[in-house]
Amino acid sequence: MADEPAGDGSTGATGDTGDTGMRSQDWYGRPLAGFGHRSWMKRGLPDDAFDGRPMIGIASSWSDLTPCNGHLTDVAEHVKRGVWEAGGVPLVFPTTSLGETQIRPTAMLLRNLMSMDVEESIRGNPIDGVVLLGGCDKTTPAQLMGAASVDLPTIMVSGGPMLNGHYRGRELGSGTDLIRYTADVRAGVMDIDEFTDLESCMTRSWGTCNTMGTASTMACMSEALGIALPTNGAIPAADSRRLRLAHLSGRRIVDMVREGQRISTVLTRSNFENAIRALAAIGGSTNAVVHLLAIAGRLGVELTVDDFDRFSHDSPLLVNLKPSGDHLMEDFFYSGGLPAVLAHLGDVIDGDAPTVTGRPFSTYADPVAAENADPAVIRTPADPVLADSGIAVLRGNLCPGGAVIKPNAATPALMTHRGRAVVFESIEDYHTRIDDPDLDVDENCVLVLKGCGPKGYPGMPEVGNFGLPRKILEKGIRDMVRISDARMSGTAFGTVVLHTAPESAAGGPLAVVRDGDMISLDVPGRSLALEIDDAELEKRLQLWTRPASPHSRGYYRLYIDTVLQADQGCDFDFLVGNSPERVTRDSH
Ligand code: FES
Repeated sequence: MADEPAGDGSTGATGDTGDTGMRSQDWYGRPLAGFGHRSWMKRGLPDDAFDGRPMIGIASSWSDLTPCNGHLTDVAEHVKRGVWEAGGVPLVFPTTSLGETQIRPTAMLLRNLMSMDVEESIRGNPIDGVVLLGGCDKTTPAQLMGAASVDLPTIMVSGGPMLNGHYRGRELGSGTDLIRYTADVRAGVMDIDEFTDLESCMTRSWGTCNTMGTASTMACMSEALGIALPTNGAIPAADSRRLRLAHLSGRRIVDMVREGQRISTVLTRSNFENAIRALAAIGGSTNAVVHLLAIAGRLGVELTVDDFDRFSHDSPLLVNLKPSGDHLMEDFFYSGGLPAVLAHLGDVIDGDAPTVTGRPFSTYADPVAAENADPAVIRTPADPVLADSGIAVLRGNLCPGGAVIKPNAATPALMTHRGRAVVFESIEDYHTRIDDPDLDVDENCVLVLKGCGPKGYPGMPEVGNFGLPRKILEKGIRDMVRISDARMSGTAFGTVVLHTAPESAAGGPLAVVRDGDMISLDVPGRSLALEIDDAELEKRLQLWTRPASPHSRGYYRLYIDTVLQADQGCDFDFLVGNSPERVTRDSH
């Protein structure tokens, strides 16, 4: 095929471009030069599929290796029905998929890589709008980040959570109960056979983790941002209403293309503020902090880690779900889901914020659902689970860039605590020594784990809720203050200070904490302090040397060299912002 300097929507060299205003017409709209694009796609598509109908990409993170996204092929079929019905042409394409429980060293290492795949797959193909199908923790933010950097009309459709797990009369929540019962096995109060039985009962259906972990949090955040249709957050994967939502999303994206409603016109600063308030009300995962910061960064929306404290510190916790509460996502859906929560929040939410529906965000609240909600699952602001929820952002000489803690998943008595540091220089050091009977530790100590931040691991793994020493567990104690530069699984809990920035591998103060230093945590006062004087801290930082990295090439090297710190969303520095959607060269 001869080169042709067209593809930017302007008249090509043959002067034969069609012009329906659709981006896809850059490919298909030229009667002669578009031959190669059209002909290769005509495997059942009629001629008029290319005459200016919206071409809708359906970005699917289906994979057998991401079992919580394993049903997205079915969801995609129902999106397709809606697209056809509305007069568009649906085109499913695969994206990188990140299975949280399978990928090593951590799925977070690959979130930005997946976002680049999503971005360039959207930009490089003849599509006018995109429906994002995700579910597992990192797939949702990666898809939104990638789509934001192209800025086409976009809707998110989440895969939905699994049904509740049951075992011998007990409800089982993904992750949360495995973590709890793992501690029981280590403490010798549960045997391994019972544990194996229990693990088999936890996963009953398709779908994502059934607690308010990161997957459910990000599905609810998609709804709270207005980038998904109402009810997206909680419909179980196995409930046919999930497929109905997919169908309606397929219909709606076609209209969004015709209306020119891009992702940047939906996701404004107000939408992020609404999402942060909703995050507090649902008791969502701390991982939402890095993901929302990264998505905002792609759109040029000014959002800081302190906004998470500012917009949530006085917000009530209304949803009683594991890991911090009692129930699971299926119960949340039957109780009205996020629409009921939004109705309870009332004027705290900016009801004028835009949404993918074209209607204001106030329409996402459902007062009838709120009235009929099961009060054991969704409480009212007058009778909340906790009056002051949300993620607390700590400051102090140990975390000049901030650190976060989730008070509703922590032990109230430890919210203000002073203790002697017991330091682990790396996760390997931790595994080697944590159960050593000679480890000099008691329950009043503060456990410190280094080397698990974005650059350090690399990839900032979910090890921030690292387990307690066996000899402490054997006393029946299940929580201690722990500090690290790592993240924590959204299904986890504990008095754990996370996302300490700058991280130790970047030379942050965490790097120079020593065994025996006193550390004080004051969550109500929002401070985290290493009790040494400024001169001593400065001297230690001067003497600190960066540990040698075993990673000299490839993606790991790129990651370590360019990843931003947790308070900036852990995006790559060169990915912040967006790029033109138009591509100006092709080979035809
Ligand atoms: Fe995929 Fe929890 S492991 S959602």
